[in-house]
Amino acid sequence: MHSKQSKLFPIILFAGTALFLKVHIAFSAEHGGTPWTYDRGIAGAKGPDEWETLNGNWSCNGRKQSPIDVVTDQVMQKDPTNPPNLRLTVAGNKPITGEIRNNGYAPTFFVGEELTVKLAGGLLQESYFMKQFHFHFGCNDTVGSEHTIDGNTYPIELHMVFWDNTNYATYELAAQGEDGLAVVSVLYELPMANINTAPTNNALEKIALLLNNVVDENSNYVVTQSEGIHIEDLAPLLTSADVADRFYKYKGSLTTPGCYESVTWFVMNNHPQITEKEIMAFRNLKSSKAHAQGPNVGRMCNNFRNVMPLNGRQIHSNIVIE
Ligand SMILES: *[C@@H]1O[C@H](CO)[C@@H](O)[C@H](O)[C@H]1NC(C)=O
Ligand SMILES: *[C@@H]1O[C@H](CO)[C@@H](O)[C@H](O)[C@H]1NC(C)=O
Repeated sequence: MHSKQSKLFPIILFAGTALFLKVHIAFSAEHGGTPWTYDRGIAGAKGPDEWETLNGNWSCNGRKQSPIDVVTDQVMQKDPTNPPNLRLTVAGNKPITGEIRNNGYAPTFFVGEELTVKLAGGLLQESYFMKQFHFHFGCNDTVGSEHTIDGNTYPIELHMVFWDNTNYATYELAAQGEDGLAVVSVLYELPMANINTAPTNNALEKIALLLNNVVDENSNYVVTQSEGIHIEDLAPLLTSADVADRFYKYKGSLTTPGCYESVTWFVMNNHPQITEKEIMAFRNLKSSKAHAQGPNVGRMCNNFRNVMPLNGRQIHSNIVIE
């Protein structure tokens, strides 16, 4: 009943030396092969308002869609123990290796070794394992994030995507199942304009460098051990025992087609900083898919969906009321 195919059509180009292996894959199947864009308010451009009409198997008009605006006044259960903290653990404490891909919609880092990055806690019924992480970001500083907090947008949002390997045989089945996925969202902010030295985030700096290898759509880059990402650097508070990882939790969907309502979301309340230089590496990414019309044709940036109605859903948090 689903349209996800995992068919890849590898056209392997050995660019440069064997040491510098760069693999290009025609990556058309990730969203079921039906074309869609991020163009808002343009009839016929296959943008978010039209997603549901593009493929009958998608759920983009459902009642539990993501992203949302987190209205902090309306968040339920501001209680430090309910839900309890998340636990993110990495087998062997190793940096994450795998493959980073420009699939035209988001720079996406696929974890090479399955089931090594585990998410638990937060009242999740099962442990979830990281499949990939990717970013949504703006063409300028005023937009970019998918989730907003009290109406505030952020220039870039990280999604770490985990799946329930206990109840589902594959990631694809989990993505369309009930509670099959858990996604951790981190909203980064730029330093204030009058502060010219931002603290450096090693993980983001590394990712920004890696992105230079996947500027073109459909390019892939194999990330070696020495280039690997320490996931705790991406979301510093998530693995720290003494500093609480405060978050907003709610039930929602994938923010890209097919918009399946399979996701337990954790929107982190801590906003690590990203530098202007790092975010430029994201904005340099090319895409023929993200926009069909308008000023950003050919670019990937502004790859965010607008916030969706809450429709009575409750948002829970472990944020303490002072
Ligand atoms: C919907 O899913 C069914 C079953 O997987 C598939 O046969 C059909 O082609 C899909 N429809 C579209 C429009 O992708
Ligand atoms: C920034 O991007 C937004 C969204 O595309 C646009 O509405 C706005 O005009 C842009 N601002 C500047 C200063 O370019």
